[in-house]
Amino acid sequence: MPPFIFLILFWFSVFQNSVHFLSANPPASSCSNGAPRISYPFRLNPQQPQQSKSCEVPSGFELFCEKNLTKIYFPSYGDDLVVKSISYPTKRINLLDPRNCVHHVFLNLDLSLTPFRYFYVLKDYTYLNCSTSLSRPFMEVPCMSGSDFHVYTVDPSLPLPASCVAVKTVAVPFEYSPYLADNSLGLGLTWDSPLL
Ligand SMILES: *[C@@H]1O[C@H](CO)[C@@H](O)[C@H](O)[C@H]1NC(C)=O
Ligand SMILES: *[C@@H]1O[C@H](CO)[C@@H](O)[C@H](O)[C@H]1NC(C)=O
Repeated sequence: MPPFIFLILFWFSVFQNSVHFLSANPPASSCSNGAPRISYPFRLNPQQPQQSKSCEVPSGFELFCEKNLTKIYFPSYGDDLVVKSISYPTKRINLLDPRNCVHHVFLNLDLSLTPFRYFYVLKDYTYLNCSTSLSRPFMEVPCMSGSDFHVYTVDPSLPLPASCVAVKTVAVPFEYSPYLADNSLGLGLTWDSPLL
């Protein structure tokens, strides 16, 4: 067989395989009217059970419905987060914390074993747990504070006040302003393309 015919046959089979691959992807779906459209690499559980190997999604991309909400579960966080929106062209997923305490998520969510990263540039903050109330530049996190303790986020380079213990230093999206209560600003994540 002349080499160029072999080449044509080769490319034809590559093309056929990719068409087969695309048509084998699960169809788009959603949890309700107006809820985020769920398509590859995400998959809705259990409405789209794994029917065949070609329908398999890379782990970490499973979403599920609770009532009409779309949710995602990160084992490291141990609680559900609500999926507010997904943009496939920009690979951005916006989450909401049902507790309405985005700092609780920043402090506890470990994205390192997931396909996700924060969408925004990160900056290290130290969370302090203090027995007394502090003034600026210490910024209190009301949703994590109690009547007899106060949680603050501070620049890690600041000296530790005597009434405080450092809980943890974590990388928090820099654009997130601690003054803002809308947690959708902080919980924008992006994902790495799964290897096919
Ligand atoms: C979900 O249901 C609640 C009431 O059960 C309703 O207020 C809300 O608008 C619904 N959301 C969507 C996205 O359908
Ligand atoms: C802060 O300290 C209080 C009391 O010691 C404790 O109940 C609370 O869980 C602590 N919070 C954090 C984020 O470490």
